[in-house]
Amino acid sequence: MTTPLDITFVRLDAAPAATCAAFAASDLTLSPAVQALNTKSNGFVLKAAEAAEFKAKAKSSIEILVPQKLDIQRLILIGVGKAGEHNESDWASLGGYTFGQITARKAREASLIAEVTGADQKPEIVAANLAYGAMLRNYSFKKYLTKKNGDDTANGADAGAERGIKLTIHCADPDKARAAFETKRAIATGICFARDLVNEPANILGPVEFADRVKELESIGLEVEILDVEALTALNMNTLLSVAQGSVRPARVAIMQWNGAKSKRAKPLAFVGKGVVFDTGGISIKPAAGMEDMKGDMGGAAAVTGLMVALAERKAPVNAVGILGIVENMPSGSAIRPGDIVVSMSGQTVENLNTDAEGRLVLADVLWYAQERFKPRLIIDLATLTGAIMIALGKDFAGLFANDDKLADQLIAASKTSGEKVWRMPLDKAYDKLMDSKNADVKNMGGRWGGACTAAAFLNRFIKKDVPWAHLDIAGTAMDAPKNEISTSWASGWGVQLLDRFIADNYEKAEK
Ligand code: BES
Ligand code: MN
Ligand code: ZN
Repeated sequence: MTTPLDITFVRLDAAPAATCAAFAASDLTLSPAVQALNTKSNGFVLKAAEAAEFKAKAKSSIEILVPQKLDIQRLILIGVGKAGEHNESDWASLGGYTFGQITARKAREASLIAEVTGADQKPEIVAANLAYGAMLRNYSFKKYLTKKNGDDTANGADAGAERGIKLTIHCADPDKARAAFETKRAIATGICFARDLVNEPANILGPVEFADRVKELESIGLEVEILDVEALTALNMNTLLSVAQGSVRPARVAIMQWNGAKSKRAKPLAFVGKGVVFDTGGISIKPAAGMEDMKGDMGGAAAVTGLMVALAERKAPVNAVGILGIVENMPSGSAIRPGDIVVSMSGQTVENLNTDAEGRLVLADVLWYAQERFKPRLIIDLATLTGAIMIALGKDFAGLFANDDKLADQLIAASKTSGEKVWRMPLDKAYDKLMDSKNADVKNMGGRWGGACTAAAFLNRFIKKDVPWAHLDIAGTAMDAPKNEISTSWASGWGVQLLDRFIADNYEKAEK
């Protein structure tokens, strides 16, 4: 579905392919390797750049066709801007931009000279992140386009035999770059896995099919258990089951464990995902317009799955568990009604006032289960939980709610380096009070105001004392989010990069 992309690393002096991309930093600063090309072409490269008034601003480019004496068809000169101010995610973004420039010219084979003067990251980190950005930019979801493939690769006679793209990255130390890229490739694989799950329509990806895809991850070294309705009933996961009861498709809970730490018994980090494969709203049915987007209401579960893929693929020295509550929210004769009261796994009774506030019911039981069974060091849930978070933050930031300042700060720090933005929102008694019900311990809906905050307050009722917990409301960022250099698909795979970074920066070194 995504065009196959073959990335290799070679030395800077290897002969470039017919399409070659190279960088210039601010003030048209050329690296030695690009300067060498310029010299070989009798200064033609710089002359052409100046003639085009190319200023090497970040993410700008010019194309120099058949440059004199260089045995190539085109040199795409890419502006870097101030090279010293780029972090890893900036290099990834530049890699995505560069890859976009290459594919826009329909090149199937290209070289990228990954040498940048003045970069404050190690050359192999720059090279690896450029490759990572290219890999993410290359993602597309075309599996159901049988006639037109989005680009010119698989139409007509080519269909089914899609040609791949070969990207050769020229760098100072190919061995080091290859090693650095292994980690980044693992993360990109996780992100693309998550994107595929979110893009997949709900007729193809029901709860059982989702669980099947998770089960297949045993092949990469994850320990996977799938709980069926019988098991969930025995566990008293009644609020989760109450959401699923209107659908003909049975609920599943998927549990993925990655025990990569030295001590296999060290308490794990727990990640919980909302996996509503389709959210019609149930009896409190949603308006028709845009309802198709609710195939993405499992974005939290997809991100947790993608994260576990990344951890396994890069053999992260950490113990982590990912748990997904997977259901379909449908209206039917067997669906839960407004006013129904259900006993959650925690024993708390929940009055369902709006069957469209279903994600929190799924999470209530899964969060409780995660704490009971795994006694985790900390727990983080991801959920496309409320439309209200988009009213508050738009589609560029996810809402972060946390009962622990250290955990919140670690996530905010990881957010800055990974480029996946979060904004801390309040967890407060005032919102908690709004969730009190006349008829049960808690109701599933607050009032008109502060919908994302009352949703978080509801979840908080299912978090045990002294368990550090964070909730990420990703309704705005998981799907239909603004496109950028490394994410051009409807599904972003949001959260994989953030959490991978969060783990790598805080929970790996001590555990080795
Ligand atoms: N899945 C939705 C939230 C959502 C909306 C995600 C739009 C992505 C895009 C969630 O289940 C929901 O319906 N929430 C309701 C809660 C309300 C009924 C208390 C909402 O936000 O309107
Ligand atoms: Mn809903
Ligand atoms: Zn939902």
